[in-house]
Amino acid sequence: MAERILIEGGVPLRGEVFVSGAKNAALPLMAATLLAPGETVITNVPRLRDVQTMRTLLEHLGASCRGDGVLSIDTEKVNGWDAPYDLVKTMRASILVLGPLVSRFGRARVSQPGGCAIGARPINRHIAGLEAMGAKVFLEHGYVVAQADRLRGAEIVFEAPTVTGTENLLMAAVLAEGETVLLNAAREPEVVDLAAMLRAMGAKISGEGTDEIRIEGVSSLTPVAYEVMPDRIEAGTYLAAVGICGGDIVIRDCVPGHLRAVISRLEKAGIRMEAGEDWIRAVSGERTRAVDVMTDPYPGFPTDMQAQFMALMTLSEGLSTVTETIFEGRFMHVPELCRMGADITLSERKAVIRGVAALYGAPLMATDLRASASLVLAGLGATRGVTEISRVYHLDRGYDGLDGKLSRLGARIWRAEG
Ligand code: EPU
Repeated sequence: MAERILIEGGVPLRGEVFVSGAKNAALPLMAATLLAPGETVITNVPRLRDVQTMRTLLEHLGASCRGDGVLSIDTEKVNGWDAPYDLVKTMRASILVLGPLVSRFGRARVSQPGGCAIGARPINRHIAGLEAMGAKVFLEHGYVVAQADRLRGAEIVFEAPTVTGTENLLMAAVLAEGETVLLNAAREPEVVDLAAMLRAMGAKISGEGTDEIRIEGVSSLTPVAYEVMPDRIEAGTYLAAVGICGGDIVIRDCVPGHLRAVISRLEKAGIRMEAGEDWIRAVSGERTRAVDVMTDPYPGFPTDMQAQFMALMTLSEGLSTVTETIFEGRFMHVPELCRMGADITLSERKAVIRGVAALYGAPLMATDLRASASLVLAGLGATRGVTEISRVYHLDRGYDGLDGKLSRLGARIWRAEG
């Protein structure tokens, strides 16, 4: 039976919460194990549906995986190079095996990801990069087929930054012949985490975290043990939650430096914060104020926090705008928030939000991962009635126990079947 999340809002949050490993770091790290025959051990792996899907994909390719949280992936016997439609359709990040497979086996056949709830999301920049490195790439029957005896280093200029595109080409370049330069590369911390694991495996990489990454190809890599970085979006979600509910929480096992754009906007909204090396304390009492945000590639305001921030703005005093520049369709939460009494006008890529004094509970439908999180937050802020969210499998794709962690902070949130 399908699960639902139920929430009775209006309870201030108090206590400590521990952030899990980052989904968007764990997935490329798992794909990168294909590059080094033998057993790689990845620790701090979040318990998520997407991690499970990547595991199934690696097993389909011939890897053997064991563990949960601490995940051992043995790629010695990998002998497949195709990522089938059934797996890719459930998780676009399956495309991350493309670069490693071409790099290690000289070929790959990966189902083309289709559009999804948040936008068209083409992979043309991944393909152009592989072609620049000498791969022959064909599109046939809905699959991307790439072949190359050995990839050659190249200078690749992304027309605009792409996170998984940068990761794919980074993984392709580490075993290529000669030097690859990725220009206008994504600067996200998850790219830096991947580069750090690849370097530990023996890759020669410099410049990660800037828009120019240089990779000197090596002939082989060796497996390592590596810990996934903390999930900055999970941490940001708790920060928005405390703005909505009020309270006093300490978020542990996070990297405050990864959240600068989010913290600055939330401070402007009136949440008081102090931070140490791996924790943030957030306190909120008064009603928060309207603040405008525009999403941007890192270090700008993350698109993955846009929906949660909008939930906060629905209850903040004044008029705010939220502009989405990364994914054209990432506004599926808007009609659901309006059904809770929010006042939001949407035109193209900009939402104008007039803060209301209260939201009320309603039956809601989750449509994608971050939209689900925004509905949970709005439910925590709804002071009249119960919020009931269906299709919570979207939430479970990318949050490791969000509802349980919020409940331990005092929120009245629980799951029910049917
Ligand atoms: N784009 C192209 N062509 C390409 C690649 C990207 O036009 O070949 C466009 C996209 O359509 C989009 C923009 O470039 O408009 C940026 O997309 P990007 O490639 O950076 O996104 P992604 O790599 O597919 C990752 C995260 C997303 C996150 C985005 C942006 C992973 C596994 N996924 O996606 O995470 O929103 O970067 O930061 O890392 C999520 O966790 O909820 C999520 C969607």
